[in-house]
Amino acid sequence: MSLFNSAFDPAHEAALVTGAGNGIGRAIAIALVGEGVRTVFADLHEDRIAAAIQTAPRPELAVPWVGDLASREACDALLAHAQSTVGRVTHFVHSASPPRREADHAMAVDDDIWRRMHAVNLDAGFHLARELARKLIAAKAPGSFLLLTSLHAGTPRNLPHYSTAKAGMAMLVKELAKSWGRYGIRVNALVPGAVAAGGFVADPALAKHIPLGRLGNAEDLAPMALAVLSNKLSGYVTGTSIVVDGGLSLTNWFVAPELD
Ligand SMILES: NC(=O)c1ccc[n+]([C@@H]2O[C@H](COP(=O)([O-])OP(=O)(O)OC[C@H]3O[C@@H](n4cnc5c(N)ncnc54)[C@H](O)[C@@H]3O)[C@@H](O)[C@H]2O)c1
Repeated sequence: MSLFNSAFDPAHEAALVTGAGNGIGRAIAIALVGEGVRTVFADLHEDRIAAAIQTAPRPELAVPWVGDLASREACDALLAHAQSTVGRVTHFVHSASPPRREADHAMAVDDDIWRRMHAVNLDAGFHLARELARKLIAAKAPGSFLLLTSLHAGTPRNLPHYSTAKAGMAMLVKELAKSWGRYGIRVNALVPGAVAAGGFVADPALAKHIPLGRLGNAEDLAPMALAVLSNKLSGYVTGTSIVVDGGLSLTNWFVAPELD
């Protein structure tokens, strides 16, 4: 049987994707539905969710949920909604994140923006992952979780609320992967480069720093996300960060040689 023909087992697997209304989360949620996986599309914006589901190849497998993941009550409402609509969630993708604004530098970012960035990325990511894992462990079912981190988990971004939230998520991935590996729950990070989506205002001039010569788009992330989520394709992969950046992270003060 071909490895790639059935990367998922839709009879026993279901997914929950946060930030599914736009960008990378949306591309991953749409790709999961395309593989026949029942998927909860969770986002702050109802209109975005509706538009995402409308373009999905099999919209009947997509379940919308609208709410603000900065709130613990909303996270619990999402968990209850997922349980009642798709049943046990085996695949969790955490892509929701407030937009970053260049104006929120170290001397300007206010408490509310700081807290919100951490609440949505790190606190909601941890709470949702832990509650989903509880159910999987109780049922002795395997799972695969993917958290969207950033190259700025390790290098400054001039936005300390963002980089510290992502650094926390990067460590969370390692903690959870180590704790839950024995239960068959894999936890990994997906690290995008410069991807022209809602969360990042892309300057086309950046392309010259990217070895593959262009900015990324959300659809560049989805195939790798599915490969890492799939227990069939990546069953022995956990606790790691998968970088999908066109080589952006190779950039330093040495310019690549001209060869022609
Ligand atoms: N785009 C990039 O270049 C890039 C680079 C590195 C990391 N990332 C990370 O990848 C993820 C996706 O990025 P993107 O550019 O696709 O983002 P995006 O802004 O296009 O999409 C994020 C989605 O999350 C939703 N969201 C925001 N706050 C929410 C909340 N409180 N509750 C529920 N939903 C909420 C938004 O409505 C939006 O639809 C983010 O975690 C981001 O930090 C992106």
